[in-house]
Amino acid sequence: MTNPLKVGLIGCGNVVQYGHRPAINGLADVELLALADITPARREIGKAWFNLRDDQLHADYRDLLAIDAIDAVAITVPQQFRRGIVLDAFAAGKHVLSEKPISQAPAVADELIDAAASAGRKLAMVHNYHFLPEFRQIKRMISDGLIGDLRVATLHFLGVIDYPGAAEYQSDWRHTMAAGGGVLMDMIHAVYLAEWLAGERAQQVMAFVDAPEYAHRQPVIEDLALVQIAFPTGYAVIHMAWGEGVGGVDISGGDGQIRLRYKQYQSGGFNQPIELYSVDKDWNRSDHAIANLEHHLDSVARSFTELWADFRDAIRDDREPMAPASAGARALQIALGAYISGVTGKVLSLPLEPSHPVYQKGIDGIAELQAWEQSKTKRAGLFGLRE
Ligand SMILES: NC(=O)c1ccc[n+]([C@@H]2O[C@H](COP(=O)([O-])OP(=O)(O)OC[C@H]3O[C@@H](n4cnc5c(N)ncnc54)[C@H](O)[C@@H]3O)[C@@H](O)[C@H]2O)c1
Repeated sequence: MTNPLKVGLIGCGNVVQYGHRPAINGLADVELLALADITPARREIGKAWFNLRDDQLHADYRDLLAIDAIDAVAITVPQQFRRGIVLDAFAAGKHVLSEKPISQAPAVADELIDAAASAGRKLAMVHNYHFLPEFRQIKRMISDGLIGDLRVATLHFLGVIDYPGAAEYQSDWRHTMAAGGGVLMDMIHAVYLAEWLAGERAQQVMAFVDAPEYAHRQPVIEDLALVQIAFPTGYAVIHMAWGEGVGGVDISGGDGQIRLRYKQYQSGGFNQPIELYSVDKDWNRSDHAIANLEHHLDSVARSFTELWADFRDAIRDDREPMAPASAGARALQIALGAYISGVTGKVLSLPLEPSHPVYQKGIDGIAELQAWEQSKTKRAGLFGLRE
């Protein structure tokens, strides 16, 4: 057996519980040497999850980065705190697995990508939906030419559950400007999936972005985003909301269609898929098996395990991970482009110009834009546009 990859974990919140914990504990050749979290109660929880000693727990992540034996770190703190930690990790010579989104601003994403290149280290994204069996299967069906050229991929995520963050920390951080966006930013999974399924780079984006009246708080970020993305040949449509609406995937190609449904039309990917089928040009239906369908919750843990195995192998073989930082940076630009379109009422060309305020500052730059009078986003007072 090759030497285990020695890792550190920075941030021990909810995503560690159902994602990184089973992955790290499940991979025999990944060894957790230390954990850092600023919240004492979360360190105690992590100690039990990973069977650690007290001297392996750190309040300050810099103490963890100072451990020479650590090859790589997973940074799973909320995005508003990641920039400095990622830069310090590269300065300490570590490889980095970063939670999504890569950052709140494209300028920062570029800075992190440059820092990884200068340090000669990997910066991989936790784009775990790539590894969910239903999306792998759909990607394979498209690659196998089952429906011809992809024309429109529609990803329905109108029933995303608005789970709070860990109770011992700041459970409401997702609903602050510091998070860099609302449900679309949080569920950026749909954005990178759209690009991956299309197999092309996005050229244009347009969107309605809103926070409906029923929102149980004075919203500062969106809880509804209806997004259209143009690729050089195909299109994607993303319907995204925290709420109880429909979920699933519908893909139209030149020679047929693919349809995926979850139980009770719930939204992917932590829910139970129940139906995946294709329809040919003559409306003949073929049902397709989804791997591990009976044990879908295991599939979530397994998707993180496969992602970690990919990260480990990318380091060992010195190759690109499945989701390099550049993919995270493109997904960020699409999501921010949707916000800009919601505010300006215009179709936005991608990539963003580096001089654009949103490129520099993320959603903090939106207040500098000329808002369209009838913008729903402006009317809802999102992104600092409250009068
Ligand atoms: N890939 C996925 O499917 C997925 C799912 C959920 C969350 N996430 C991402 O993971 C990240 C964390 O989300 P969560 O739901 O686990 O949040 P959470 O609120 O449950 O946990 C955040 C943890 O980070 C710790 N923390 C905050 N600042 C820190 C710092 N400076 N140093 C060390 N620890 C610090 C907190 O004490 C807390 O334990 C976010 O970026 C989120 O977008 C990804």
